[in-house]
Amino acid sequence: MGKLGPKGSALNEHKPRAGIGPLSRLGAPAWSDQEPTWRDAKPALIGAALRRAQARPSGNWYVLAASREIHGGKPYGRVVAGVEVVAWRDAGGGLHVGPGSCPHLDAPLCDAAVHEGSIVCRWHGMRLPPGGRPGWLTYPAYDDGVLAWVRLDAVGGEEPLATPVLGPRPVAQGKLATVATVLGRCEPQDVLANRLDPWHGGWFHPYSFTNLSVISAPAVDSSEADDRFLVKVSFRLARDLGVAVHAAFSCPEPRTITMAIVDGEGTGSVVETHATPLGPDERGRPRTAVIEAVIIQSDRPGFDRAHLVAPALRPLIGWAAKRLWRDDIAYAERRYLVRSRSRLG
Ligand SMILES: [Fe+2]
Repeated sequence: MGKLGPKGSALNEHKPRAGIGPLSRLGAPAWSDQEPTWRDAKPALIGAALRRAQARPSGNWYVLAASREIHGGKPYGRVVAGVEVVAWRDAGGGLHVGPGSCPHLDAPLCDAAVHEGSIVCRWHGMRLPPGGRPGWLTYPAYDDGVLAWVRLDAVGGEEPLATPVLGPRPVAQGKLATVATVLGRCEPQDVLANRLDPWHGGWFHPYSFTNLSVISAPAVDSSEADDRFLVKVSFRLARDLGVAVHAAFSCPEPRTITMAIVDGEGTGSVVETHATPLGPDERGRPRTAVIEAVIIQSDRPGFDRAHLVAPALRPLIGWAAKRLWRDDIAYAERRYLVRSRSRLG
């Protein structure tokens, strides 16, 4: 583990200020009075963390969508890593993913019907079952309960794994998951690089975060065991009211970064950010889907019912819907633009 930051403190020193329940008075400095973080946010350190993440195996698994986006009635279509795929569910809820183009005359199968567990092409009625048929073989698919994954060995090029590599998740009981997706003109590594820079939080997202300090960051030559960022941060609910937590950022595989709440309200909850490459846009620029799952854990009674969730956890649940996302996509797109300019220049 790297050195403590200038504002570093040990976990057991964490004491929220007086407030209402889990909420605390922020007493935060004005935006311009914050301690600048650029000296600690060393490009070499962020770059090394990114390279280590990229070197981890994915087993060629890609997050396709939220599990609940793929449901009984209609197939779900998406281009993943340049491959057009279609996903659907059989009568038992089993997930299946196949090529998105009908093997007969290339009709779009996202517009097909689902009938008795198979998809049926609307153009000429060709039936495509879960096991596939000659010229149309299905891909390995996996539903982890929150997200649907597809394994694309031809584009991944790694040693295939039987299941995706998942990071830490809350225990099943009392968990609540929301998934939201935004698209950016960048590559997955730009999305990860943004999240591997926790120092930008208080400066770039003052409407969401304050009193952010990076307690520890992995060294440039970090071992696997120490490869995480530990951050102390308050999620801002109102101008001077927030929830103070400690969060750990780590990358279980090359296209995922997980933020786990390790101390404070909602301990055990995670925000999983998955960056799925889609394919180039009409101008040849890469497009990436940022598919973010917020999986909340709380011991509070009635927690399984969304409307009863403690107000203190709403910032986490609403994480995906806010300005934070637009700003982080802008960061990732800018990083891609600068990288592509330097490649050309
Ligand atoms: Fe951000």
